[in-house]
Amino acid sequence: MSTLSPEPVKPLLDGSLKNENEKKREIVRVSGLKKSFGSLEVLKGIDLSVREGEVVVIVGPSGTGKSTLLRCINLLTEPDAGHVWVDGAEITARGADVNKIRAKTGMVFQEFNLFNHLTALNNVAIGLKVVKKIPEEEARRRAMEELERVGLSSKASSYPAELSGGQKQRVAIARALAMDPRVMLFDEPTSALDPELIGEVLEVMKKLASEGMTMLVVSHEMGFAKEVADRIVFMEGGLIVEEGPPDVMFSAPKKARTKEFLGKIGAIHGGTVVA
Ligand SMILES: Nc1ncnc2c1ncn2[C@@H]1O[C@H](COP(=O)(O)OP(=O)(O)OP(=O)(O)O)[C@@H](O)[C@H]1O
Ligand SMILES: [Mg+2]
Repeated sequence: MSTLSPEPVKPLLDGSLKNENEKKREIVRVSGLKKSFGSLEVLKGIDLSVREGEVVVIVGPSGTGKSTLLRCINLLTEPDAGHVWVDGAEITARGADVNKIRAKTGMVFQEFNLFNHLTALNNVAIGLKVVKKIPEEEARRRAMEELERVGLSSKASSYPAELSGGQKQRVAIARALAMDPRVMLFDEPTSALDPELIGEVLEVMKKLASEGMTMLVVSHEMGFAKEVADRIVFMEGGLIVEEGPPDVMFSAPKKARTKEFLGKIGAIHGGTVVA
């Protein structure tokens, strides 16, 4: 299969994608993705497409393969079968320039993964210097811009131990943004945070979405999903059970299981206000 041109786009399962959206470039395409760990089949054949500027929120029970799916998209985990394209380049192709394609994705994890011995500014600047080979001064200038973008320029010289969880996560977002990704992958970015710190991280994510960033987000923050997501994907048992716009998924899902699950998490995680 060609490494440069994705297969023709298949319509979504429920055919709900807006016409306008259909014209937009596909930034992520996953086709027939499978992954097992030993005898445990975690992903059983995932097909997913994310278009430019789209915000797609993935929900599903624990152990369903949501993190594995995100990790397969940037090859932190290697799939057993299937294909993944990012911005038109197939990362799963034999001989693909994996580092180059991986650099098109920015990943934000639940546990921040900052370098504790570096200041906030240097946590953001280090990738620019080491990976992108940008000179020190320019890297620091750019890192400062990214900290400003997440509202943290005043904390540039603070170390992670001096930051709150919400601030650490915003530094992690700034670090990912600094690499100029074509898509941001968020894996439960607020689930390690105290409830009062969740809002500030969701606020930054909401701002990114409004700026047109393409985002694939695993989250059970249903207030955020209802307000910001173009599409909700419900995964269970290694498969996509149903996907569609939030209003359809919450008020008129086709599958009883979708209704049951979204009803349950909506009751638990539906209250976070995103101003
Ligand atoms: N590196 C690994 N080695 C072995 N098993 C793994 C590995 N990574 C994930 N798994 C298993 O794969 C299954 C799916 O894990 P995954 O982390 O993708 O689920 P998830 O949907 O993200 O769950 P959660 O909501 O709890 O984060 C789990 O049973 C997990 O234990
Ligand atoms: Mg997970």
